[in-house]
Amino acid sequence: MERTLVIVKPDGVQRGLIGEVIGRLERRGLKLVGLKMLQMSEALAREHYRVHEGKPFFEGLIRYITSAPVVVMVWEGPQAIEIVRRTMGATHPAEAAPGTLRADYCLEVRRNLVHGSDGPETAATEIALFFKPEEIVSWQRDTDRWILE
Ligand code: RTP
Ligand code: MG
Repeated sequence: MERTLVIVKPDGVQRGLIGEVIGRLERRGLKLVGLKMLQMSEALAREHYRVHEGKPFFEGLIRYITSAPVVVMVWEGPQAIEIVRRTMGATHPAEAAPGTLRADYCLEVRRNLVHGSDGPETAATEIALFFKPEEIVSWQRDTDRWILE
């Protein structure tokens, strides 16, 4: 089983798309094991996007992600990292495959709705940045045997 961090970015919250993001991941069969709403501080944003420090879009990205509340979640499932990223679509909405969240709801990379961890190490670091261990809920889902063999 893998876990991955998903963020509904400020544009998603402002546009009333929290439920749409959650609904798609839920219907896909992934299991929600952590959820909170928060306003990211500048320090938290800089830490979360540290790999992009120095890039031309970095300061704009920090302003964007701190501009309004976000919803932060942990989703669990086999290959959850890859499955979430494919459900979100390519970083640049114009390149996102039809049917993905970014293709269906976005136009610009600077307003691209969602974040998903991009690998196992990043996922672990990002989950730890936003959630205390006791805030992650390991729970038995009664439908699991109809979703996972
Ligand atoms: P994310 O980290 O948010 O899940 O997105 P990603 O992996 O698909 O893309 P990444 O390369 O990690 O970029 C992080 C976020 O920075 C913004 N960005 N703006 N050229 C630009 O203006 C530009 N490039 C990236 C996007 O919000 C992107 O999701
Ligand atoms: Mg990324």
